[in-house]
Amino acid sequence: MQIDILTLFPQMFQGPFSTGIFQRAIDREMVSVNIHNIRDYTYDKHHTVDDYAYGGGAGMVLKPEPIFEAVESVKSGVSLKKGGELPVILLTPQGRLFSQQIALELSRCSRLILICGRYEGVDERVREHLVTDEISIGDYVLSGGEIAAMVVVDAVVRLLPGVLGSEASPLDDSHSAGLLEYPQYTRPAVYRGWSVPDVLLSGNHAQIAKWRREQAIIRTLERRPELLGKANLNSEEKRLVNRLSTSP
Ligand code: 6GU
Repeated sequence: MQIDILTLFPQMFQGPFSTGIFQRAIDREMVSVNIHNIRDYTYDKHHTVDDYAYGGGAGMVLKPEPIFEAVESVKSGVSLKKGGELPVILLTPQGRLFSQQIALELSRCSRLILICGRYEGVDERVREHLVTDEISIGDYVLSGGEIAAMVVVDAVVRLLPGVLGSEASPLDDSHSAGLLEYPQYTRPAVYRGWSVPDVLLSGNHAQIAKWRREQAIIRTLERRPELLGKANLNSEEKRLVNRLSTSP
């Protein structure tokens, strides 16, 4: 996968992509992440990227020309696989809410272009005529799209085949099955008098799987009950939910 990120603050991307699974994925050429400075696509003496809003009001608006030029330049670089689509995604609090499902969709693309919005806004013509998608990472306001872009890239890259290694399956993650993850324990079996649940020490794999599934359901019911509506529960599990939600 090739990911191109357009930003006014390229230095913000130094850290996150040079550690852990990222570095490994990049080293193994499973993904390449290219950071482009939008300011490099300006041609005036002052490298102007923003301007006053027509109609007035506080705050500057990102100009369309450098963003169009940057995206067109990045697009011309590499040819797309035939029939492959090339999402051009604007990170903005007005976008559709990012989710594990969207991460999975994006992980199937061979290329992504991400545009980090900044300041009070982006010229509307960028939305209308350049981007194919707008994503928000939550209902709060960040000072720019950079950290949101890192969130999206992290969630997508770890889903690429081979990136996590064989032992950890992204299918077990919280949210993949529409449930939060079950509680995890490691040694020691007793710490400060607090014991690991017996079933996990039993060696009975069927019992362990059943316990984990139940715990995932209980945890989801307690913390994010609205997720249960979309989870795939069998009839026994639905009875469990009913019993727990009607008991005092
Ligand atoms: Cl994508 N950008 C900004 N500026 N704020 C956000 C966001 C994005 N997602 C949530 N808040």
